[in-house]
Amino acid sequence: MKQWTKEERYRVLQSPDEIIDLHRQIVKSPYRQHYHIQPITGLLNDPNGFVYHNGYWHLFYQWCPWGAVHGLKYWYEVQSEDLIHWINMGVGIKPDHDFDNKGAYSGSALVTEQSIYLYYTGNHRDENWQRTPYTCLVNMRDDGSLHKYSKPLFGPSPNYTEHQRDPKIIYHKENETYYIMLGAQSRDHHGRIIFYKSKTFNKDYEFAGELKVEGYEDFGDMWECPSIEHIGDVDVLIFCPQHLKLKDRGNSIHHNGYLIGHMDYETLTFHHDGSFHVLDFGFDSYAAECCANIGDDNKAVLIAWMGLPDASYPTDDEDWSGCLTMPRELTIQNRRLIQKPLKGFEDLRQETLPLATKTLPTACELDLHITGALDMQLCKSDDHDGLTIRYEPVHRTITIDRSHMHKRFNIEQGESRMRQLHQDLNHLRIFIDASSIEIYVNDGEALFTSRIFPTKDEHGLVIKGQVEGQIYALDRAVKDNFQF
Ligand code: FRU
Repeated sequence: MKQWTKEERYRVLQSPDEIIDLHRQIVKSPYRQHYHIQPITGLLNDPNGFVYHNGYWHLFYQWCPWGAVHGLKYWYEVQSEDLIHWINMGVGIKPDHDFDNKGAYSGSALVTEQSIYLYYTGNHRDENWQRTPYTCLVNMRDDGSLHKYSKPLFGPSPNYTEHQRDPKIIYHKENETYYIMLGAQSRDHHGRIIFYKSKTFNKDYEFAGELKVEGYEDFGDMWECPSIEHIGDVDVLIFCPQHLKLKDRGNSIHHNGYLIGHMDYETLTFHHDGSFHVLDFGFDSYAAECCANIGDDNKAVLIAWMGLPDASYPTDDEDWSGCLTMPRELTIQNRRLIQKPLKGFEDLRQETLPLATKTLPTACELDLHITGALDMQLCKSDDHDGLTIRYEPVHRTITIDRSHMHKRFNIEQGESRMRQLHQDLNHLRIFIDASSIEIYVNDGEALFTSRIFPTKDEHGLVIKGQVEGQIYALDRAVKDNFQF
């Protein structure tokens, strides 16, 4: 594995000429995705600033241009008219001020009638590498130009460690107040969420307090990427607790999950029913971001990083890594989040193949109706079983195992994930792309998202069980063009 010096990781990108050759090289990779957002070069992590404005869905991703390494972070912009087809727009927020000299870290967007406002963390470090996080602001005008405010909105609170970041902007109509919530770490190293508030648009923010989440005072040492989404008649608190072991999550220590309840903005209390649920039961999903304004109070659209902190992937050697998940529709049923593929993904369907097909297309969807036990091998080759999916009706358990793929990675986190379902398995929609798989169980009851890196021989399919359904080859929906 390549060793990066600090200078290499934090090198400032001066011109597109510095990365165009890298882009030309990586687009030849067999693992470039057909319908998932992926970095033009280097590393992609969190989705940021997801918002709808004037007919377009705007979305950014955390981007380090140089290779598969976390270093100087930019926001890179992609755009879509339908949430399915995406185009590369170019570099969004650049870390070009002293207050963000070591990275424009994650954040969110707010749209007004005139334009978009982007709130992000300026990751400042001094010459002794001491970090000071600032909450910063950029205005994106309708001509696409970005205008960074010359001063941050506010600096860090002295009562928490240097880990204070990932602003989520919320306008609370009832009390006509703007809130910015940040992920934070208490001085005794517990994950926290802190709030700032202001009555004036983009000015006069003051520290409002710490979010009270009863029972979760000792739940990981840092909470990244917090947000509160109002869906139907509930609030959903989404966050990423770090350095925490959870049941059925193998050796994973970084999670993305949610609590359902009611947010009281006056007392800064999240009243909930006590059950933290992970958003995704697969291996690679983190830092989910919901679109700020989809215009339907009963739904939200969520997209996440299909990757994890402290993990490595086979394309690291090709100097690129990471992609985003499919955007998903979120609704609430029985106080649980239901995640479904957006309807528009059906438009990508091309020719259909029978279930008896021996070879899967690189990008495809399997739509399967199941009765009883199931034993499936996907991306199978002559000498490897590929990715296996098993369902045992007696215990209602579904198990995904990627240990039989030729290319194995992040083995230490565990290579299989099991989930007990609330009802019998009856429906699977499986979306395969060049280097990923997303398995939607029972119309949204559970979801397993994972990177996989099949070799050229690993495209076989074996299904054992009582299964009916269809396989669709899927069209391309992301352009792999170089836009700076
Ligand atoms: C989550 C995260 C955020 C941070 C960003 C930096 O993956 O660590 O907390 O803002 O990535 O790229």
